[in-house]
Amino acid sequence: MPLGLLSIKSTPPQASKLGPCMAIESDFRHDQLLIGFKPIDDLHREFQDILDALLDPAEADYGKHLLALHRHLLRHCAIEEEFMRQEDYPHIDRHRRAHQRLLESVADVRRRFDAGDYDTARRFCADLQGWFTIHAHSEDAELAAFLKGSSG
Ligand SMILES: [Fe+2]
Ligand SMILES: [Fe+2]
Repeated sequence: MPLGLLSIKSTPPQASKLGPCMAIESDFRHDQLLIGFKPIDDLHREFQDILDALLDPAEADYGKHLLALHRHLLRHCAIEEEFMRQEDYPHIDRHRRAHQRLLESVADVRRRFDAGDYDTARRFCADLQGWFTIHAHSEDAELAAFLKGSSG
């Protein structure tokens, strides 16, 4: 749930609380992020590719991928929010708040990583898979249904 990300400033997410999302197979995770609206699905595939690198225990260049994740999420959220503005999406404030909390958490995790706290970054990225799957199927799916309706 989003609470894991919200609480990261005071209490980093615990790996023991991750639940079944940690055991989801790679292909299944990709399917779980797709919502049937191509511009957003393309962003979600890109997100998954970056997160896959961060979740790979053999990946050496962790800081580079963490920076790529931050940059991607800034663009990802901005593109979705631009769709919302263009189409006068009625739930823009709620969806944008979820994005803001996510982006604040990512910025905080990067600061911690730069200060040498690698464990927090790894726990955050492990939690992010589950959080993002829920976000894709709630906020993003609702937005996609609205956009498909308004474009047809
Ligand atoms: Fe999204
Ligand atoms: Fe979103």
